[in-house]
Amino acid sequence: MKILNNLFAQNISWAENLKKADPDFFLRLSKQQSPEYLWIGCSDSRVPANEIVDMPPGEIFVHRNIANLVIHTDLNCLSVIQYAVEVLKVKHIIVCGHYGCGGIQTAMDNKDHGLIDNWLRNIKDLHRANKTRIDSLPTEKDKINLLCELNVIDQVANICNTTVVQRAWTDGRDLAVHGWIYSIEDGILKDLKECITNLDEAAETQRTK
Ligand code: CO
Repeated sequence: MKILNNLFAQNISWAENLKKADPDFFLRLSKQQSPEYLWIGCSDSRVPANEIVDMPPGEIFVHRNIANLVIHTDLNCLSVIQYAVEVLKVKHIIVCGHYGCGGIQTAMDNKDHGLIDNWLRNIKDLHRANKTRIDSLPTEKDKINLLCELNVIDQVANICNTTVVQRAWTDGRDLAVHGWIYSIEDGILKDLKECITNLDEAAETQRTK
């Protein structure tokens, strides 16, 4: 007897519905993937990459972790970026955070959360570096949401500083890094206007931070 029978049943009906609309869909996808986008988002179950931008399988290469972090010693994330840029030749890397992120909230309090506190270390540093600005906001929600935005901007910079992305730009490749944030409350994406498309722009944003 299978466990989680409901998930297998839902899978069959999902695949059948897709085939009804496009009989060759899976056959075509099985031959290759050529996504134009790499999405780096939060693991939060309410922020699913494909659904938010209404795209079918095959269109977005996805990496998700708690609080959508790009850490320079994280071989998992760096390998995803390398594969996406060098093999799949994506044209856009999108960091998508979300308001009310539990990872950000956890990083902001001073309690002991065990192992995850190590993962959230960079956000704690970012919080400290922007403490005056964050503390000037009236509500806890505003403070969390500002740090959610600052975290996205910080991860955009981290991506721009990877050897993979720097090399792609040196080689004249067409590659843009974007910072977006999503609202779970209304399902709407916001562009944080943090679009970096070459080495000069990357250097410029580093100078102004
Ligand atoms: Co989150």
